[in-house]
Amino acid sequence: MFIIKTRNLTKKFKDLLAVDDVNLEVEKGECFGLLGPNGAGKTSLIRMITAVSPPTRGDIQVLGNDLKTHARQAKAILGVVPQLDNLDPDLTVLQNLMTFARYFDIPKHEAHRRSMEILNLLELSNKRNSRIKELSGGMKRRLLIARGLINLPQIVVLDEPTIGLDPQGKYLVWDKLAELKSQGVTQLLCTQNMEEATVLCDRVAIMHQGKILSLGTPQGLIAQYAGSEVWEIEPTAEERDKTVKELESRGLGFEEVGSKIHVFQVEGSQVSRGLVESPERVRRRPATLEDVFFRLTGRSLAE
Ligand SMILES: Nc1ncnc2c1ncn2[C@@H]1O[C@H](COP(=O)(O)OP(=O)(O)O)[C@@H](O)[C@H]1O
Ligand SMILES: [Mg+2]
Repeated sequence: MFIIKTRNLTKKFKDLLAVDDVNLEVEKGECFGLLGPNGAGKTSLIRMITAVSPPTRGDIQVLGNDLKTHARQAKAILGVVPQLDNLDPDLTVLQNLMTFARYFDIPKHEAHRRSMEILNLLELSNKRNSRIKELSGGMKRRLLIARGLINLPQIVVLDEPTIGLDPQGKYLVWDKLAELKSQGVTQLLCTQNMEEATVLCDRVAIMHQGKILSLGTPQGLIAQYAGSEVWEIEPTAEERDKTVKELESRGLGFEEVGSKIHVFQVEGSQVSRGLVESPERVRRRPATLEDVFFRLTGRSLAE
């Protein structure tokens, strides 16, 4: 069953097509990832889905509610975790949650009960009376997630939930998101971190210049576009032409990445011999979503 559905969704800023004719279907209970580099259009897309910014063209349904006519009903079942920290610095952690609960007309005692429960889930209970400026980056991120859960949403929309966090903070957020998913909360997650998408998402849409270029499970996309293994070859300047010719004659898919050549769809049994003189100039590694992005766009995610 589709819990979010977009049809021909488009957002234009003057001449810029930030979101270009996007058709998406997010299934109930899944973690759906929008993976793309800075400027791909991820934030613009989810701002339309969360009824923050109106589409230039196209339709959105959230649990059967058309956003054009039923934005209020849709907002009631959505939790939103924005990319930028917009917590109130003058309030404590608990007060931030209680204040936010008022937007949803949640009675005060219920708001308090939920806040305590959600703070517990995100390991922030002992910080409930702290001011925002006393929190680390990771704690602020977790509080933003906590705030997005105050209306007990069926769907949480998260915009780059771990950007700028140290590894420890990042892994804790990943744990919490996995826990939420196991409780049946659907997630729509924007990220430019391919590891995040691989670890958390059931399905991923690869986004670039406003368009969805491909969509599937992380492993399915990797298998389709890159195979199981990638060779990174670094030929010397003299042997480069010969290496390229050899790859072409073997019919292998490859991309030139700076001084290196990435070779895709190679299997363990294939030999890299004959491509370069020195075996140290061939590195073999498992394929990743970064390779998928590269094959689709000729660029890397972190530009
Ligand atoms: N309010 C706005 N006005 C004009 N251009 C915008 C606005 N918001 C985003 N853009 C542009 O739209 C494109 C997509 O941006 P965004 O949706 O923020 O991408 P992402 O979240 O993937 O980094 C970018 O080129 C960005 O500069
Ligand atoms: Mg963004």
